Amino acid sequence: MVSLVVVAVFLLWGTLFQSPQVAAFKPLFRDGSVTHREITQMAILRKTAEVCRDIATAQGRDFTLAINNKLTASAVQKACTTSPGSSSALSSLGFNLAITEIYLSNAAIDAVFALSAARHVDNEAFVEGRDLITRGMAAVKASVQQGSYISARITLGALCHTLQDFYSHSNWVELGSIAPFSTLIRPDLPLNNLADRSTPTCKNCIGKDCSDNILPEILLHKKLTSGYFDIIFSAKPAGKCSHGGFLDRTSYIDPIGGINKDDISSNHGFLHQRAADMAINATMEMLQDIRLATGNRDFLRLMGLSQTSVLAFVIDTTGSMSDDIEEAKRVSFSIIDSRRGTSEEPSEYILVPFNDPDFGPLTRTKDANIFKARINSLTASGGGDEPEMCLSGLLLALAGAPPSSDIFVFTDASAKDSKLKSTVQATIERTKSTVTFMLTNALSFRRRRDVSQSQKFKSRSITQSDIQLYRDLAHISGGQAIEVTRASLSQATAVITDASTSALVTVLYVERSPAIAEIFSFLLDPSLSNVTVYITGDSPVFTLYSPTGVSQSGSVADGPLGSILTVGNLRRVKLNSDNQTGEWRISINSTRFYSLKVTGQSSVNFLFNFVEQIEGGDLAPKANRPFIGRNATLFVSVTGGDSVTVTDVLLVEASGSGVVNGTIKAVGATDFLVNVDRIPEGAFVVQLKGLLNDSTQSLPGQFQRQSPTQQQGSRVTITAQPNSTIEPGMPFDLSFTLVSNATESNYTIRARTDRGFSVSFPSSLNIGTEGSAQGTVTLTAPSDTKSGTDVTLTIEAEDQGSGDSNYVALRFSVMTKVTDFSRPVCQVVSIKADCPVECSTASWELSANLTDGNGTGISSVSFNRGNGSLSLSFVISEDGTNVTVASYNASCCSQEVELVVVDRVGNVGTCFTSIKSPSVETTTVKPSTPSTITNKPSTITTVITTPNRGCFVSFSMFVLLCNLIFFFLCK
Ligand SMILES: *[C@@H]1O[C@H](CO)[C@@H](O)[C@H](O)[C@H]1NC(C)=O
Ligand SMILES: *[C@@H]1O[C@H](CO)[C@@H](O)[C@H](O)[C@H]1NC(C)=O
Ligand SMILES: *[C@@H]1O[C@H](CO)[C@@H](O)[C@H](O)[C@H]1NC(C)=O
Repeated sequence: MVSLVVVAVFLLWGTLFQSPQVAAFKPLFRDGSVTHREITQMAILRKTAEVCRDIATAQGRDFTLAINNKLTASAVQKACTTSPGSSSALSSLGFNLAITEIYLSNAAIDAVFALSAARHVDNEAFVEGRDLITRGMAAVKASVQQGSYISARITLGALCHTLQDFYSHSNWVELGSIAPFSTLIRPDLPLNNLADRSTPTCKNCIGKDCSDNILPEILLHKKLTSGYFDIIFSAKPAGKCSHGGFLDRTSYIDPIGGINKDDISSNHGFLHQRAADMAINATMEMLQDIRLATGNRDFLRLMGLSQTSVLAFVIDTTGSMSDDIEEAKRVSFSIIDSRRGTSEEPSEYILVPFNDPDFGPLTRTKDANIFKARINSLTASGGGDEPEMCLSGLLLALAGAPPSSDIFVFTDASAKDSKLKSTVQATIERTKSTVTFMLTNALSFRRRRDVSQSQKFKSRSITQSDIQLYRDLAHISGGQAIEVTRASLSQATAVITDASTSALVTVLYVERSPAIAEIFSFLLDPSLSNVTVYITGDSPVFTLYSPTGVSQSGSVADGPLGSILTVGNLRRVKLNSDNQTGEWRISINSTRFYSLKVTGQSSVNFLFNFVEQIEGGDLAPKANRPFIGRNATLFVSVTGGDSVTVTDVLLVEASGSGVVNGTIKAVGATDFLVNVDRIPEGAFVVQLKGLLNDSTQSLPGQFQRQSPTQQQGSRVTITAQPNSTIEPGMPFDLSFTLVSNATESNYTIRARTDRGFSVSFPSSLNIGTEGSAQGTVTLTAPSDTKSGTDVTLTIEAEDQGSGDSNYVALRFSVMTKVTDFSRPVCQVVSIKADCPVECSTASWELSANLTDGNGTGISSVSFNRGNGSLSLSFVISEDGTNVTVASYNASCCSQEVELVVVDRVGNVGTCFTSIKSPSVETTTVKPSTPSTITNKPSTITTVITTPNRGCFVSFSMFVLLCNLIFFFLCK
């Protein structure tokens, strides 16, 4: 009877408030409660700020930002920026993008693994949960080492979910714990004191009151348990706690009720805030381990903080291209040399050569010299009579470049692989990268110029339909197809110099094909600088009007509004910097087609992602094209300000025929949920208008931004369960589902990876009367693939009748199973500190022995929190183990140091030493002192105070040094 009443209460509660939810902290949004998004974001902001603080301290700079839960991305970004000459706008897009990638991947776990006990640490799945966390951490470290930051973020987000859920789903908080459960990130420690399967853990709640439903003996003996959860069956082991909530059938039977702290209305909602705080601290502890393993610089890269612009070239290397290659070389060298050491220096370089039948390899580097060497080694040869592998090369660059990159393609020939068009389009949509084509044969073909070249390579030609393919791809991406003669290419490459600046934003992009005369208006705000207007088209004619009513015709090279460069089919207007703010207009026409693009530099930009409803009412990211004609939700984040008002979010049809206006709901100072009634039939762009409320912006005002890349809906959707890691040499089966509102359609299936890994898949699938179909893709990474390599698998489905298509792109990290879970050991051997009050006149020394037992071996040694110098030497101890001897020397003013030892798979060992105590004079530590081996980073302090003066190197150190000298003499 009692249970029936409770069931009824739960049912009513559930239907009325839609409140109890699947199985986690809420993934993205929940008024009054803390979500996975907020936990992840806060932990990242705080840890990133700490890293920047430590760097600043080591460099003797001030760091004034208070590190607390009020941090914003733009404040952290500003505090972390140290580049000299950073007068120009700071792009916080990279940082925001990285944080978003991580928390969306976290939120996606609720959509794709809703019922996995291990992913949510339900059903007392502690061993499995920890396994996911620690394997995930190893994969993140391996990915960072390979420079695969996006994969690293996806894996990081997923493991954060499990780590954070532990604090909501277990009784860790109820046990009165005051610190995170470090064992969850430590595969080398035993998981002790788990309540075994036969141990009862809960009693019935009293009505709706579950505040005291954990059994006293569980609390007394500090036994760890977590709630059982099932949405279909109510069975659970006798006496066990349930998760609780409307969907959880197990909570309807004895012991009734649950213990989750997912939100404030959960059974243990009164502990929600505490669990969320603990989850933030636990996430920071995990990030600290990753930071120590990767080093500060790579950690900041993982967080997207050091991303400025990317210089990305895809170059045809066939015989006729030598002048073009020379020009690519000239312009890239000039960009590199003029920006070195400034905030405008590109953060990454991408180069992909192609001809026929080859394309690649992809060069992706942060080192400008490597890029220079690669581009220097390109030579034009062969080919000459065949179309080239242009789109294959472009795909490689799109996959290798960070999202929102500007990619430039140099070619004078048709694409042999034009069948890849839809794949390229999907990749552009997904990466939001912009592609601009520099075509040097199109005009010579049409206008019969460039005689010498066309005689030398007579048979090379590029037809109108080929140019149209490039033009289409340029327009889809918000780029341009620039057609120039070889002789004038060097003028047109000004667009490359323009694009490779940091904080580039798009204010407006439109294309009209066929051309129609039209007047466009656009809003320039005070945060913009270096505003440039580009028009490409067949003999474009235009006039520009400023907010103050001044006009300038496109035929006037130097006028009151700006200077106009005319080359080939390109017109580029650099606006003068005065009187820019306000509404501008441009009237424009052309004989056949044109595109108009307005860009500038500003830290104010926006990110958007389609999200979809998941069971229980919350939202999770949508991995592919939204359904045409149906309503949809976008999650929009505005970057570069601490507070903004968004007044309009519009889906603007690329054809110019219509606009869908979104309904906006703020979900934070700079985050918004936007509902649209319908997804348009054709391609569309997202446009945003708003108001900067930020007092730190010198001049607040109205602004407008647009996504350069077009998006598209579809009538079919394709879903697959992602698995973030695969093993080299092991075939991996991935099943996927097609769902369409059209029945009896036949879909062509295509699957490929960006690394050319072997994939097998059904060539077509038929959607029957039920409107869905299933297929399987088998993916195999070659057995010699390096751990940490990332690979993107794209599965496309195209309706054979209508051509409508959708895709799903899944990223995998290739990981050899990690078997080394033991941490390197850092043992302080001696400290020699004889520090006077006037600290700057003396220095102190530390010596430590570093070993990795029978692990994979030490791969790096570094230090934190000090600004001394470190030298390493290598000896073999008496018992035959390899010992790395670290000698650290620092000024007496720098009194702390933490040595960080990382092995080849990223396990981290540390030892922290401080000579802060005023009585510290000279110390000698016996090498066997075990207290110096710290398992937990930065908690154990080795402060040894001995009163007797004197200064000596310990005997064992002496022996080590002798050994060392001997060792090197013998070599
Ligand atoms: C989280 O860490 C902060 C700072 O280290 C500490 O003040 C706070 O009490 C911790 N919160 C919990 C819930 O452990
Ligand atoms: C961009 O604008 C800034 C500030 O107005 C100026 O200092 C800088 O020289 C400009 N950069 C270019 C490439 O014109
Ligand atoms: C800029 O504004 C000033 C004052 O409003 C005006 O006199 C001047 O003509 C304007 N210049 C341009 C190029 O619009």
